[in-house]
Amino acid sequence: MKKLPQNLSPKHFEWGCATSSFQIEGGNFEGGRVASIWDDFCAQPGRIKDASDGTVACDHFHRYADDVKLIADLGFKHYRFSIAWARVVNADNSVNMAGIDFYSRLLDELEKHRITPNATLFHWDLPSHLEDGWLNRDTAYRFADYAALIAEHLGDRLPRVATLNEPWCSAFLGYDLGVFAPGHTNRTSSLSAAHHLMLAHGLGIQAWRSRLSKTSLGIVLNPELCDPLTSQPEDVQAAKMAEYERNDSFLNPLFAREWPSVLLDQMGSRLSDRQAGDLEITAQPLDFIGLNYYTRSIAKAPSSPEDAKRGYTFVPPDAADATDTTKQLTDIGWEIYPEGLKRVVNNLTQNWPLPPIWITENGAADNTPVVNGSCDDDLRCAYIEQHLNKMSALIAEGTDIRGYYVWSLLDNFEWAHGYSQRFGIVHVDFETQVRIQKKSASMIKALLISRL
Ligand code: FCB
Repeated sequence: MKKLPQNLSPKHFEWGCATSSFQIEGGNFEGGRVASIWDDFCAQPGRIKDASDGTVACDHFHRYADDVKLIADLGFKHYRFSIAWARVVNADNSVNMAGIDFYSRLLDELEKHRITPNATLFHWDLPSHLEDGWLNRDTAYRFADYAALIAEHLGDRLPRVATLNEPWCSAFLGYDLGVFAPGHTNRTSSLSAAHHLMLAHGLGIQAWRSRLSKTSLGIVLNPELCDPLTSQPEDVQAAKMAEYERNDSFLNPLFAREWPSVLLDQMGSRLSDRQAGDLEITAQPLDFIGLNYYTRSIAKAPSSPEDAKRGYTFVPPDAADATDTTKQLTDIGWEIYPEGLKRVVNNLTQNWPLPPIWITENGAADNTPVVNGSCDDDLRCAYIEQHLNKMSALIAEGTDIRGYYVWSLLDNFEWAHGYSQRFGIVHVDFETQVRIQKKSASMIKALLISRL
């Protein structure tokens, strides 16, 4: 891409890059940080593909000043990051000022380079000592305490704040499929976790707003676009069930003051976790919604008793429609499907009263190595360009999208994939911590600088 479409010009459109605390910070045993469920999960054999952990990650905890300089050098004026709850709150619920100080120094650097922070309060690194994690209603109230504490200590420097990142992943990958921390495999538990996450979101918004009324507050979701494998009614129904789970579990409590009705009978004994008045809390008015988009999924009628509980079976993209040789996958195996961005955003705006939208994550795993000092990540360049074109088309059609954040600034700890999948526009050598800007970084820089 040589030139940005006019409606994505950084003059009137927010351009940023995104990261999250556990994936880049490291310094996990420094500054009084308490353990998080991801530290514990990494310590369990077999959980992380390359048996790695987040102890050092990108060493951003020590290198944050240089990293902010890098963000500025790339031409970004906005930076999305998350605050690690485990770094700023002690086990007795008191504030850890050393942790606050870290984020305050990060904000100083951003300010110095005139980069506007876009903070997320929870990007999955839940303090381990919160008993039973998201299965415990009390965790939602502890989240509200944490939100209040950030509002009090850092809030006047944070113009935009999201409560949660992708609660679907915390709830369903963490408590049903067991591939994310804490690694449970219980369907009813995951529905309960989803509810407590949404309760935490609502309580967090209330706690923040009662202290600071001017902050733009929202939540970040990863809405699902799920297509059926065939047009058979069983497959069509399965795709619907996947979308109910992934979308309605969160959009209903946010915008409709309803439980996701098709999931009610899956909740079993944990139905009672949902108490009268909860939906008034979850449906707080929002200033924005962040949407993360990477790919779509394909579903067919459930093919195992376990999947029968969920109502669908996912079909890996290389197996779905294997005859389509034009289908391209990223290195992590996700289908490249830019049209999905348009389809999913249109589905949402047609069905829900959404506030203004920010695309808070979009990007590709492209493991192209560094050769002679440069990294020609052509797949990522093409991926970003295709998605920018779709976003531009959405805006041209009248959709209120106000910003785009590329995932990610740096190669980092990609959860259960460890360091085996690289999403950065900047390459990180995890032995030396040397950062090298990839071709995608140069492409974005050229697009942004030419419009400043
Ligand atoms: C999203 C996560 C982010 C990163 C990307 C690849 O689901 O929010 O942390 O792992 O996927």
